[in-house]
Amino acid sequence: MKRKVIIKSNLTDISNFAKMIPTRLAHFENGSSAPIPKEYAVNKLAKLIHPEILHLTVKDIVPRGESAKSFILVSSDDTPLAPFIAGQYLTVKLSIGDSCVTRPYSLASTPNDARNGFYNITVKRTSEGFVSDYILDNLKIGDKIDAYPPEGTFTYEPIRDAETIVGVAGGSGITPFLSIAGSIADGTTDAKMILLYGAKNEEEILFRDELDTLSKNENISVVYVLSDSKKKGYEHGFIGAELISKYAPEKYSLFICGPKAMYEFVGKEVEKLGLRHKFVRFELFPSGSDADKIKGFPKDMANLKFNITVKKDGKETVIPCISNESILVAFERAGIDAPARCRSGVCGFCRSKLISGKVYIPEDTDGRRIADIKFGYIHPCSTYPLSDLKVKIN
Ligand code: FES
Repeated sequence: MKRKVIIKSNLTDISNFAKMIPTRLAHFENGSSAPIPKEYAVNKLAKLIHPEILHLTVKDIVPRGESAKSFILVSSDDTPLAPFIAGQYLTVKLSIGDSCVTRPYSLASTPNDARNGFYNITVKRTSEGFVSDYILDNLKIGDKIDAYPPEGTFTYEPIRDAETIVGVAGGSGITPFLSIAGSIADGTTDAKMILLYGAKNEEEILFRDELDTLSKNENISVVYVLSDSKKKGYEHGFIGAELISKYAPEKYSLFICGPKAMYEFVGKEVEKLGLRHKFVRFELFPSGSDADKIKGFPKDMANLKFNITVKKDGKETVIPCISNESILVAFERAGIDAPARCRSGVCGFCRSKLISGKVYIPEDTDGRRIADIKFGYIHPCSTYPLSDLKVKIN
C-alpha cells in the first residue's frame, strides 16, 4: 500500500537556508591559508590538567606518631600540579630492587593546596605493606618520584549526595576525609560533615591537631571512637549502625574508608541502616594477595604455581605466578612495568587481553565493561591465575 508523506515546512526556513550557502562559501574564500596548527591551545590545557605522569619531589616529611609519616610533594619541573577533587588518590610509581610497583594513596591535602603547589600523602606501616614500608624507610627529602595524576570516585557529588556526609574512618583511612573536610572549611565543597574516627587509643589518632582545628568550623564535627580504652569525651567500641544513627541527621550520605577488618564489620552494619545504594560509598581497598581468603575462590586452587607468557611491546617473556596473588603482582615481581592505578579492579587502567588460560575474578572487584568481558579482557590487578596463562599488556 502506498502512503503519502507530507512534510510541513516554513518558507522562511527554506529561504534562510538558501542564504547560508553563499555566506559559508564566502567564509571559506576569506579563510586563512596558514597550515593547521600541530597543537591547539585547548589540547595544551587538557595535557596540563590531565598529564600522563607527574614528576614530583619530596619537599618535607612530617612524622605522624610511631607508624606513619606525611610526605609533602611538589612539582620537580615547575609545571603546575594536576588538579583534583577532594577525596581522590594519587598513585605513586616506584622501582624497588628488580620490581616495578605502583600504590594508590589518598590525598590528605585539599584541591586548594594543589593550586598552591603541593600534595600531601600519608603512609602508615601495616603488616602486609611492602611498598608502604619501603616508602617509610627509604624516601628522603629531595628524593624524586613519579606518580599518575589524581583520580577516584570517593568524592562528594552535590547532585547525587545528601547535604551532610557522615564519614566513617579507621587508621590511615582518615586521609580522604581530611581533604574533604579541608575543602568544606575553605569553601570549595558545599556540604556538611560529621566524621566518626575510630582508633585503638588516643595515641593512634592521626592528624589530631588538624582535625580539632577543622571541627571548629560550623559545618564540620569530629567524634573520636576508641576501641581499646574508655575515656571521657570519646565514644567507646566499634563504629556500627547504632553509633552512626546516634550522630547522623535524617538524610545523609555515608562515606567509609579504613582497614580491611573495619570494612568487614561496617559493611554488615550498613545494611541495618536501610540507606539507598547511592548514598553509600566505600573507598576501595587495593587487592593483590590472599585470594584464597576471598569468598568464591576455588577451594582446591590455593597456592598453586603457574607460568604467564607476557606479550608487551612486541616481546614475549615467561614469568612465574602463584594462584593466591593477582596477575599484576606477578608482573611487578618480574620487573615488568605494567600500567596500574586503583589496584582494586575499578579504574580499568591495567586492562589487558587474556589470550589463553583460566583465571578467577572476584565478583566484588570485577569492574570490567560488558564488551571487555565478551572479548576476553581482564584487569590484572584483580584477576588471579588458575592455570598457565598468556596475557597481552596494552
Ligand atoms: S589498576 Fe585500576 S582496574 Fe586495575
